[in-house]
Amino acid sequence: MMKAAASNGHHSQSRPVDEKSVKLDDIPVLMTGGNYIREGRDSSKSTCLVLSPHSTREVGALAKILKLFEENEVNLLHIESRPSRRQSGHYEFMFECDPTCGNLDVATKKLRESCEYLQVILRNHDDNEKLGDTVPWFPRRIRDLDKFANQILSYGAELDSDHPGFTDPVYRARRKYFADIAYNYKHGDPLPHVNYTEEETQTWGVIFRELSRLYPTHACKEHNHVFPLLIQNCGYREDNIPQLEDVSNFLKDCTGFTLRPVAGLLSSRDFLAGLAFRVFHSTQYIRHPSRPLYTPEPDVCHELLGHAPLFADPAFAQFCQEIGLASLGAPDDYIEKLATLFWFTVEYGLCNQEGEMRAYGAGLLSSYGELQYCLEGKAELRPFEPEKTCLQKYPITSYQPIYYVSNSFEEGKAQMIKYALTVPRPFGVRYNPYTQSVEILDSKQQIQNLMTCTNQDMQVLIDALRKLSSEEH
Ligand SMILES: [Fe+2]
Repeated sequence: MMKAAASNGHHSQSRPVDEKSVKLDDIPVLMTGGNYIREGRDSSKSTCLVLSPHSTREVGALAKILKLFEENEVNLLHIESRPSRRQSGHYEFMFECDPTCGNLDVATKKLRESCEYLQVILRNHDDNEKLGDTVPWFPRRIRDLDKFANQILSYGAELDSDHPGFTDPVYRARRKYFADIAYNYKHGDPLPHVNYTEEETQTWGVIFRELSRLYPTHACKEHNHVFPLLIQNCGYREDNIPQLEDVSNFLKDCTGFTLRPVAGLLSSRDFLAGLAFRVFHSTQYIRHPSRPLYTPEPDVCHELLGHAPLFADPAFAQFCQEIGLASLGAPDDYIEKLATLFWFTVEYGLCNQEGEMRAYGAGLLSSYGELQYCLEGKAELRPFEPEKTCLQKYPITSYQPIYYVSNSFEEGKAQMIKYALTVPRPFGVRYNPYTQSVEILDSKQQIQNLMTCTNQDMQVLIDALRKLSSEEH
């Protein structure tokens, strides 16, 4: 019998945790596999230094750097090393620093003298400056999403010891390959085309076959509407793993959603911010072949079978974007609430369609076990009410004991828009699809411009309605 995916969330919940109090048990299973952002901290507030000393082969190179931080009382939140991509045989180090204590400027200046290469990655800067220090950094243009990818806090294929692929060197090498291509991706690049191996395609085939049998009776009507279109247009077949690029192009035509490769988990804040731009961060690797119906983390099966079909639905796409827009510049506790809403809808949502309960959450639509379980009546069902749902705790390594039910995506969207008003922010946001950027509405002039645009749209509507009415008479 197959076991359900332990969890299919794409991001770590950004619980505000005291760094020193993090215990291994507190770290979710989702942490496995080339995470980019570590659990439990608001990455928007730290400063990262990526550097390569003159000679990394020299004994004590790292100790000398650490001494500099110590002398300047800079508190380090995280340290990593990885092989340098600029100079083979050399290493580079990444230091995540707390900018609120010590003298980071002096330390950086001294480090520059002793380093061959040094890059400072600041996140609380430029566009957001005028919003004040209390508003966490958030992307304003779609291109800004590249800044998340530069926040490399882990590299390669680090798997937990209980991961099915932990002792498989071939699988680990493959995971590193996928981490590399995602790391090198920049907005505007063509999505990486992957030649999947025969074994990988077989793994996909097992999942595709089993889930396709359940969809007609278990999936929501929107999923069942789009799925045949994906078979027709994007190479969804038992013997073929679709390419992200084909799926992304298809979604762009339907709703403007696009996929962007990511090697592992992002913080909730970063992951949700992508949705504001209708960008979905997607993994491209596949689970280990030893257990085709189990995965401890999201993989390409989860993304393409669970998520992709729904992003082609206009109301659902807007629902997701509303969560994303609400997250921009939101305080940490609201990020957690929005991530919880995402969990109970986009990942594990049920809906009531013509008197029948159906699944629309991607965690369900990509899990052969839980897709059956969630409709068997064993779990508690509650109506989706954002202000209550956002407070519900949930397990990430077992089937959900509670599911939330929506009546329609239209209704869910209206509820989300209403909920977004409760996020404490001193400004309004609006997405401009022409420039793929987020406009901040915090001055009379900007609001006036928006009213002018809305007025023009109203004129188009009035004109169209007038023409329709005159045709009828
Ligand atoms: Fe997911």
